[in-house]
Amino acid sequence: MDKQLDGRTVFITGSGGVLGSTYVRRMLAAGAKVVATDLEGARADGLMERHGDDPNFGFYHMDVGDEDQVTEIFKRVMADGWQPNVVLNNAAITGEMLMGAGKPFPDFADTTVADFERTMRTNLTGAFMVARQMDRDIVGKYPCALINVASMYALNGAHHPIYEGMPFKNFSAYGVSKAGIHGLTVWLAGYWAQRDATVNTISPGAVFNGHSEEFQKRVGELIMQNRMAQPDEIADVMLFLSSAQAGHMTGQMVNVDGGFSAW
Ligand SMILES: NC(=O)c1ccc[n+]([C@@H]2O[C@H](COP(=O)([O-])OP(=O)(O)OC[C@H]3O[C@@H](n4cnc5c(N)ncnc54)[C@H](O)[C@@H]3O)[C@@H](O)[C@H]2O)c1
Repeated sequence: MDKQLDGRTVFITGSGGVLGSTYVRRMLAAGAKVVATDLEGARADGLMERHGDDPNFGFYHMDVGDEDQVTEIFKRVMADGWQPNVVLNNAAITGEMLMGAGKPFPDFADTTVADFERTMRTNLTGAFMVARQMDRDIVGKYPCALINVASMYALNGAHHPIYEGMPFKNFSAYGVSKAGIHGLTVWLAGYWAQRDATVNTISPGAVFNGHSEEFQKRVGELIMQNRMAQPDEIADVMLFLSSAQAGHMTGQMVNVDGGFSAW
């Protein structure tokens, strides 16, 4: 029987994270070839350990905020014989990443321009640079799809009280960058429509990653289903968006948030 992603070659940024690594595992199992990229470090090493022997898996170090690297890695990927027809703009500076790196979460009044711009550089300018490279190297040559990753906090404000006393917080540049990435989706959807390229946004809700009982309770009260998502539940929808079955969808935001955004 055909697998859901037979014939798809998926290029993923930030692929070593909680969700990225789930997409890699699930997409390989669904018959895709996967070109994974991420910053140097433990996450990248972990992916190589798990999938390095799989001929359908390739890995490249790429900082999405580095203009030269984005251009060079796309060229290398194609020169190495991969032909990505699905691109996931998944890399982001997230609260969990900052917490893991021991970074503080300053109050809004103390947020520096440098902090704000660092997040925008990765989460938004990086996504633009990846999409632009896709336009240069892929769009118009064969059918393809771009999926931009936003968040439940793209078009809805963060509920600040649920973070009180927690080791992580939601920070302003995060929501701003995630709203912006959907702007990129709708702008490009029309721009690419006549060249057989689709663009959609996926907006995951709150994804469980070892959070405390107290945090699960607080965030659960904001979600119709009264619980956080498992990474595989987000991957289920990402696989659909990456498949040929999503060919007539473009310019859409798909919320996978247990009803958070519907209340
Ligand atoms: N986990 C959630 O609850 C949740 C909810 C909504 C949206 N999202 C979004 O889903 C995506 C994946 O989230 P996650 O939970 O796996 O986060 P994560 O922090 O576990 O992973 C993010 C990945 O991006 C990489 N990255 C960071 N800066 C980079 C750069 N400059 N260049 C290349 N890679 C870089 C990191 O190394 C990491 O592997 C993100 O866009 C995030 O905003 C996550």
